[in-house]
Amino acid sequence: MATVFLAGGAGYIGSHTAVALLDAGYDVVVADNYSNSSPEAIRRVERITGKTVQLYEADIRDSARISEIFQENRIDAVIHFAGLKAVGESVQKPLMYYRNNIDTTLTLLETMAKFNVNKVIFSSSATVYGSENPIPYIETMQRGVCSNPYGWTKAMMEQIFEDAAKANPELSVVLLRYFNPIGAHPSGLIGEDPTGIPNNLMPYITQVAVGKRDHLTVFGNDYPTPDGTCRRDYIHVMDLANGHVKATDYVLAHKGVEIVNLGTGTPYSVTEIVETFQRVNGVAVPYEFGPRRFGDIPEFYANADKALALFGWRTEKSLEDMCRDSWNWQKQNPNGYR
Ligand code: NAD
Ligand code: WQD
Repeated sequence: MATVFLAGGAGYIGSHTAVALLDAGYDVVVADNYSNSSPEAIRRVERITGKTVQLYEADIRDSARISEIFQENRIDAVIHFAGLKAVGESVQKPLMYYRNNIDTTLTLLETMAKFNVNKVIFSSSATVYGSENPIPYIETMQRGVCSNPYGWTKAMMEQIFEDAAKANPELSVVLLRYFNPIGAHPSGLIGEDPTGIPNNLMPYITQVAVGKRDHLTVFGNDYPTPDGTCRRDYIHVMDLANGHVKATDYVLAHKGVEIVNLGTGTPYSVTEIVETFQRVNGVAVPYEFGPRRFGDIPEFYANADKALALFGWRTEKSLEDMCRDSWNWQKQNPNGYR
């Protein structure tokens, strides 16, 4: 079976993808600098799957180090998860975001060329559609105007992959545009482990539920949506992980560039998420309405047809599953991996 190199593979989406790839019979090599993760996640991946992961502490920008890893392992395909992802922080520290996210991409592509590895999957984001495109977002739309440096790094990296593939017809690239990943592996052994105050909705909810924060503030209830709160396309991280397995099967067998949305196609509002979380878990999440958060748009969700047509993939988990599994992880690991 083929060997897949996961750059940034100790993180939230990378660790779940490692489980799905190992379960599907792939061998997995992970490199991570643990800037937003812990090696404990990969030890738990090994516990869940009963398989071994080749794990390296390494900065993906470090060409010499990444070359060593490619030398020691016969890599067939790369999945590039390594990146900084906090939208607000990217506005405060744009250069750090451009430096890290763009450099990791360049180093990976250069190292791949050096070792004649021509298969790569990239963690892109629905954020590249910008705010002007009509919903649902479909892959044929032009990339839009991003509202923050994080989003721009994703748009720029997509462009870099497209240009690299134009210049090298042997290259096979899948740009996966994730919508809003939440949930955790059903074992509760791995999950999302944000440092500091969570930026994203679900980790905030689980931290209120476990008593670490006293209430959730819902950012705005005067949006032009059915209940006035923003609507998003939340996707279970295990569905997302399985999408990466399908993308790996695909990228190994094809050449050229494909952009693929990974979402459910169904939006839920902030209020629906909090209410569902409380109902399925029987736990209270006090919340109050506050002002809008700068940069939020009322609603976006995926047209998910292409992933089905190209990969034969569609999501299988419900919103109830997402809420149950998020809570199962948080209550078993109130302090994450620490
Ligand atoms: P994460 O922070 O949990 O994982 C990213 C991993 O990359 C971390 O383990 C971090 O330590 C590592 N990393 C960062 N810079 C590195 C470097 N220079 N060298 C080595 N490792 C480095 O985030 P995630 O939620 O798992 O996201 C994975 C990818 O998917 C990111 O690129 C993110 O931008 C993208 N994405 C995430 C979401 C989301 O909502 N979670 C949505 C769309 C896209
Ligand atoms: C979801 C909804 C908030 C926290 C972000 C990035 C996007 C992608 C996914 C990487 C919004 C509301 C949140 C809170 C709230 N990441 N909310 N109270 O903003 O849709 O997407 O993560 O690519 O690029 O922008 O996700 O989880 O932050 O917010 O009311 O304490 O929850 O206003 O409507 P978002 P989110």
